[in-house]
Order: sequence, then structure tokens, then C-alpha cells
Amino acid sequence: MNITNDSVLEKGFLDIEIDPRLDLFAEIERLKKEKNAVILAHYYQEPDIQDVADFIGDSLGLAQQASKTDADLIVFAGVHFMAETAKILNPTKKVVLPDLKAGCSLADSAPAPLFKAFKAKYPDHLVISYINCSAEIKALSDIICTSSNAEKIIESVPAEQPIIFAPDKNLGAYLNKKTGRNMVLWNGACMVHEIFSLEKITKLKVRHPKAKLIAHPECEDSVLAIADYIGSTTQLLKYSETDSSQEYIVATETGILHQMQHNSPNKTFIPAPPNNNCACNDCPHMKLNTLEKLYLCMQYEQPELVMDENLRLQAKKSIDRMMEISRKAGLI
Ligand code: 13P
Ligand code: SF4
Repeated sequence: MNITNDSVLEKGFLDIEIDPRLDLFAEIERLKKEKNAVILAHYYQEPDIQDVADFIGDSLGLAQQASKTDADLIVFAGVHFMAETAKILNPTKKVVLPDLKAGCSLADSAPAPLFKAFKAKYPDHLVISYINCSAEIKALSDIICTSSNAEKIIESVPAEQPIIFAPDKNLGAYLNKKTGRNMVLWNGACMVHEIFSLEKITKLKVRHPKAKLIAHPECEDSVLAIADYIGSTTQLLKYSETDSSQEYIVATETGILHQMQHNSPNKTFIPAPPNNNCACNDCPHMKLNTLEKLYLCMQYEQPELVMDENLRLQAKKSIDRMMEISRKAGLI
């Protein structure tokens, strides 16, 4: 069958039937060896994908792994901006992802032309952008950060230097409070972290008085205000392992619960409830990836992430600065 990037982009892998008797876990292991491939997966991926991954991590960990891998094929089980980051750091390697349409509502909330005009209004400001943004926004930024290193990145900038922070207003407001800065914030947000219901969380805390609320800083201020611990996905996971409590209400995407439960089998993890009755704290973009698509993308090495070289070089500068500051701060 002639599988091209265009056909996969247009129709996905819809035309291809997978023999249901196939052991996809074994097949994926075989393909890894055959193609010298590495699977990098974010914590928000479905459990089966996390179980076949070579590395599971938060955005900083994944970027770091992408920068040091010696694999020929990088299979990125995450969303588009994450695979873009891997490509920016590995121009000579082939980067594929199970579904090229796996985007990000936060990255989409900052279209490059609008952001360029916004930036022009603050000519003396330095631009720090959260890694959850497009390569075009990275190219317009001075430094990239993730939720793991944002505080250190901001603190590395002289206090008198004014800063624009994009695209997440919730993370930006949280960082303004933490660092005492007054960064100008772009008005973007993540659909998953904005959906938590303060009222339902409060009721849940009453029913589980010993449970600690742990939250990602992409959550709204009202949720962060009552959280016992705030951190990136890796930081939340580590906290749940080392903290002495037995029960946690987890205010981030539900995929992380797989590792939390795996690493602390005797503890209880309750997903924080959203403000309606659907499973809206599942990221619809992350969950576009499935084990079947992962297998097919390894088999056909499609869809591939390709990037204009000028854009890549421009975007790389801000990621390099992040890596440099993170290294100096001992974060990687
Ligand atoms: P981290 O895993 O870096 O905390 O980011 C969370 C997120 O929303 C990724 O899309
Ligand atoms: Fe984007 Fe939010 Fe999904 Fe992360 S959880 S990929 S920030 S939409």
C-alpha cells in the first residue's frame, strides 16, 4: 500500500486494517529494534502507550531526551508542539507522531501574526514563552520555559527587565505571584485545566478530608489557591511518591494517574471533577493517539513532522537558552 504523509494527513490510517490477532505490544518492540526507534511519551498518553514507551516525561524531560537520543527514528507520542520541539533539536532525524492532528488548545490560543502585533506594542520587553506553543511563537520568543523550570528561567532575568509571558495566562499569573514580577500576559489557556469545578472539588475535599489537592499550574487561580501542592506533571508525580498522605485529588489531565497508581500502588488517586458531566479532563488532543496508530506510524514511518529550516533555526535559539539556564540551575 502506498502510504504517504499527505494520505495519512488527509484520512489518517483509516484505510488500513490491523489484524486483531496481532500482539501490538510485541510488534512495537520488534519495530523499535528493527528501525532503531525510540518512543517518547507524555504522561497524558493512554496507559497502553505509556507502557510501551522508552521514556515517559513532562515537557522538559521529553525535550531533554529528544536532545540526547541516538535513535534514528523518534516516535513522539504526544502533541504537535512537542514533536516540533523534538524536530527542532534533531534536524537530521526522522520524527513521526501517531496523529499529526493532535494539536493543543493552548498553543492554538496564540496565532503567530496576532502575537507578533502584540509583541510590537512592548518593544523593550523580553519574551518568555511556555513550551506549549507553535514553532512560529518560539521563533518570536527570547526564552522558552516549561512548568518545571519557569520560575528559575524568570529569576535568571534581571528584575528591572520587563517581560511578556505567553501563551498561558493562568501559569503566567501564578508565576507573577511566585516571583513578584509583573509580566505582561498573553490571554491564552488550556481547555483541560480550565474545566475543573471549584465547587465540586470543595465537595470532594469534604468527603475525603485527608486527601491532598495537587494541581498543575495551568489551572485557574481559584483552584491553585486551595491546592496543597502545585507543580508540573513530573513534580506532581514525584510529590505523590514522597509525600506521606494516602489520598490525592489530582487537578490535571487524567493520564498522569496511570504512573501515580503504578508508582504508589497503595495510595488512592481521585481525578479532580470537571464542571460538567463529561470526561473533559481528558485532553482530546493527547487522546487522539492510540496504540494502533502508534504501531502504524512506526510501521510506515508516517506521518512525519517536517519543518522549514529557517523557522527551525529561529525557534531553536529560544529553546537553547532554556536548556542552558536549566543546566546552570541544575534542573537537567
Ligand atoms: P508538563 O508535563 O510539562 O507539566 O505540561 C503539561 C501539559 O499540559 C502538556 O501539554
Ligand atoms: Fe494542550 Fe492542555 Fe492538551 Fe496539554 S492538556 S496538550 S496544554 S490542550
